[in-house]
Amino acid sequence: MSDQQLWNDVDDYFSSQLIPADDALDAALRDSDAAGLPHIAVAPNQGKLLHLLAVTQGARRILEIGTLGGYSTIWLARALPADGRLITLEYEPRHAEVARGNLARAGLDKITEVRTGPALDSLAQLADEGVEPFDLVFIDADKPNNPHYLDWALRLTRPGSLIIGDNVVRSGAVADPHSDNPTVQGIQRFLELMGEHPKLDATAVQTVGAKGHDGFSLARVLP
Ligand SMILES: C[S@@+](CC[C@H](N)C(=O)[O-])C[C@H]1O[C@@H](n2cnc3c(N)ncnc32)[C@H](O)[C@@H]1O
Repeated sequence: MSDQQLWNDVDDYFSSQLIPADDALDAALRDSDAAGLPHIAVAPNQGKLLHLLAVTQGARRILEIGTLGGYSTIWLARALPADGRLITLEYEPRHAEVARGNLARAGLDKITEVRTGPALDSLAQLADEGVEPFDLVFIDADKPNNPHYLDWALRLTRPGSLIIGDNVVRSGAVADPHSDNPTVQGIQRFLELMGEHPKLDATAVQTVGAKGHDGFSLARVLP
């Protein structure tokens, strides 16, 4: 049995024990697939982890950078109270359209907003609007821009907020100091910035599973 097969089996086992079938989430993946979106959403057990982190955080306001078909968005938005708010940023209009449909079917369209366009523009727009600080930011878009996303996340959060970054391992490539891959370099700079920032307390964890060998970072904004 290959390593990947074993990791898939364990993820399937965890999901069978801990994550009941869910019509809205299953349909979100089905519609994303039917629309030809890439298979790069978080796995179900990762989505549940995001959900639990948001619940534990008592998040009322969540910012997501990188929507795809809204799969992780549904997990996160379900952690919000009835008067909560989630804003998710997506570059591709087709992805945003699929996500809006998936969020509406999940009954989350009243508390979520999908903003289309380059995330760096949307983030500047949010700052211009003077939005209230977000309690949790999930960064999961184009990795070369991660250092800029971290900068914006710091501007748009408050002490105690959580900043989560996905895909920070890339099958181990992150540990290669000579990598000339802009994605890897973006993640390396992102981690470096988190490690040296006086207002962040951060860690990163590597994972194996249905999405291969990857991982996530977790940072808390300090007072
Ligand atoms: C890994 S997927 C997001 C997956 C989603 N968070 C989930 O787990 O269900 C990354 C998304 O970021 C979007 N993206 C890439 N570059 C972007 C940019 N500059 N601004 C906004 N979104 C971008 C891609 O189009 C893609 O839909």
